[in-house]
Amino acid sequence: MQQQPTKGSSRDQFVSKVGFIFAAAGSAIGLGNIWRFPYLAGKNGGGAFVLFYLICVIVLGFGLMLAEFVIGRHTQLSSVDAFKKLDKRFTFVGGMGVLAAFIIMGYYPVVGGWSVAYIFKTILGQLSTDAAIMGDVFGSLVTGILSPIFWTAIYMLANIVIVAKGISSGIEKASKVMIPTLLGLLAILVIRSLTLPGSIEGLKYLFLPDFSKITGEVMMAALGQAFFSLSLGMGCMITYSSYLSKKENLVQNATIVPVLDTAIALLAGVVIIPATVSFGFDLGQGPGLVFVTVPAIFATMGPVLGRVFGIIFFLLLTLAALTSSLSLLEVVVSYLIDNKNWERKKAVGFSSVILFLICIAASLSMGVWSDFHLLGMNIFDFLDWLANNILLPLGGMFITLFVGWFWGKDKVKAEVTNGGEINFSLFNVWIFLCRWVIPIIIGLVLLSGIGII
Ligand code: PFF
Repeated sequence: MQQQPTKGSSRDQFVSKVGFIFAAAGSAIGLGNIWRFPYLAGKNGGGAFVLFYLICVIVLGFGLMLAEFVIGRHTQLSSVDAFKKLDKRFTFVGGMGVLAAFIIMGYYPVVGGWSVAYIFKTILGQLSTDAAIMGDVFGSLVTGILSPIFWTAIYMLANIVIVAKGISSGIEKASKVMIPTLLGLLAILVIRSLTLPGSIEGLKYLFLPDFSKITGEVMMAALGQAFFSLSLGMGCMITYSSYLSKKENLVQNATIVPVLDTAIALLAGVVIIPATVSFGFDLGQGPGLVFVTVPAIFATMGPVLGRVFGIIFFLLLTLAALTSSLSLLEVVVSYLIDNKNWERKKAVGFSSVILFLICIAASLSMGVWSDFHLLGMNIFDFLDWLANNILLPLGGMFITLFVGWFWGKDKVKAEVTNGGEINFSLFNVWIFLCRWVIPIIIGLVLLSGIGII
């Protein structure tokens, strides 16, 4: 975002249309696509999970993203204040979003730290197609005490510096380079993965749904992943679109961002799942999947080429993670600035210290604290589950209910069509989605996910 000298407005705005798309896509595209999507698909039965995930993205993703864009651009405020202005009864939705951002930032930097560590592991040539060796490399990193905390600290520091300086234009620029490069590298890796012996079986696993695998828990995981991956349900997209000019076409933006995000997730799946099958690694191994399989793919490319590609890959993964976690930290920080009247530096300093302590607990819960359980999960998994499977869907449900029922159809229509300038023929369909389809799907999935129906 850069200062734009517009009449009567002192608020920053995105200079160009692509600037906004890349910033929003930068928030959406992150560890969720490359780390979380493939391992959830592997763990939750492949095709059935992917199919339900795609349904969630198409039906909920587009509808909710548009709802968030409309709220943000209309109020030109970040989420808590936006709801305060529009309807005080919904202020808690903004608050829930800040809490979700806080919880996600309590473990996201741990994975960001693993990614930084792997840049160095790749430089040192710790690549092998042997499952036992790659499993050991990952295991000894995450179950360690000081080493993962050290890498988390490095990753966290990058976030702190950028958010403390408020360099949002940097986010825009970084994303513009990162996203096309990531797409290019993933395309190369898709070819490598699909030419490995036996990889077709992995492709079948990923895309042929076995409906017997669809359970309440699998649906809940897919729904949570759609929210997480698209950065929805917690007001992040409300805040980003509050910087968007009144001339932009919101419908178009709400289509392009989910398409880009889903393309990257699917490409990551097509790289990782077939290669995992080809190497004979365990598909259901969970959070380690990308860190075990991807280095093995690079190992097949030879010591020099493998290393070069490996370094680029983990650099890109770190950068993608960074553009996402910046948006998460910004949600927490802007809440403290706007509502507690704190200075930016104080807000960043205070929240980062607490978040870092939570990250330490999350990191240790993969190793020495792994016996400590909350609802049967270690701290890391519990934070991930609470934010993505519960808070984000609940937030999304209330946001769409607000837009569908409480805001007023005429006002919504005026904002989404730029005062009648844009023709949005599916307006009534979208309102119907917000009123009924999205809240009901979320409600049913939540109930079945926690085992009530
Ligand atoms: N969408 C990000 C990812 O896929 O890694 C994570 C995220 C960022 C979630 C921002 C929520 C959010 F508000």
